[in-house]
Amino acid sequence: MTARPPAAQTAFGPMVIAACEQNLPADQRLFDDPDAVRLLPPSQRLIVGACRWKPAHQLLVRATDSKAQGLWASLLCRKRYADDKVREALHDRIEQFVFLGAGLDTRSLRLVAPAGARSFETDLPANIVYKRQRLAEAYGRIPPNTSLTAVNLETDDLTEALAAAGFDWHQPAMFIWEAVTQYLTEDTVRKTLACLASSAPGSRLIFTYLRRDFLDGTEDYGAAPARQEFVTKRHVWHFGLLPEETPKLLRDYGWTEHEQVGPTEYAERYLAPLGRDVAVSPIERFVYGVRSTDEARS
Ligand SMILES: C[S@@+](CC[C@H](N)C(=O)[O-])C[C@H]1O[C@@H](n2cnc3c(N)ncnc32)[C@H](O)[C@@H]1O
Repeated sequence: MTARPPAAQTAFGPMVIAACEQNLPADQRLFDDPDAVRLLPPSQRLIVGACRWKPAHQLLVRATDSKAQGLWASLLCRKRYADDKVREALHDRIEQFVFLGAGLDTRSLRLVAPAGARSFETDLPANIVYKRQRLAEAYGRIPPNTSLTAVNLETDDLTEALAAAGFDWHQPAMFIWEAVTQYLTEDTVRKTLACLASSAPGSRLIFTYLRRDFLDGTEDYGAAPARQEFVTKRHVWHFGLLPEETPKLLRDYGWTEHEQVGPTEYAERYLAPLGRDVAVSPIERFVYGVRSTDEARS
């Protein structure tokens, strides 16, 4: 059994929340993810089942939001945003999708494999072992055209690992780096971006980051208990950025920022149309960049 380090344990929470969303009627959901519950371990599947009972659901939302106000909705909106971007890329005929720190993410199953595109999932060894086993139990196999590769971004060579899994660095790709950068050091975030700088022009990247002014205690954003737990006590959140810093960070590695979204965009695009009037935590934001062409860079 591969030991699961503290950062790897964080793969489960997002899928519990995504799975609970599926308990809502279809016309009230932010996204459809029938596979989420199937990837969870039995104890967490039981929790999701219990949350079909509304008071239990509300209790879990309240417990989550007691760590960071609006955390539940922020996570759901983040999932929806990444789904939209993956769908857009598939529509635009991108054929390779790389999930860095994939956790229990189900997009290979739901979106990428059904479209005939290739998925490259990477994560810490413990989560790759778990996911491989769970996919085999739940589906009898891993999805077609999908590889699961153990990569510790801190210590391993991502370029080599992807190439060994069959990734084609000469073809455009989409990289999905969702809820991972905070677990890394700045050196590793930069090393990873430097690796992705070898991707073909037209490639796309989405990544989330936590606000540095929250991590360093300058602002609370209603999330002081989350800082206490993940920064002070468990020492798993390290890296953060400020919104105005991301265009330069991307530019340094050959990417152009096209969009950055947070609570305002999530509320306008996703929550308001469904009449869901809930708070969204501002501590995490999503950035979308496109790989500049060689001419644009020179
Ligand atoms: C909060 S989970 C997010 C999982 C998934 N991307 C999602 O959004 O549902 C963070 C993920 O980052 C992975 N992770 C943390 N540190 C890592 C590292 N050094 N190298 C690779 N993956 C890492 C964890 O194992 C975990 O799966």
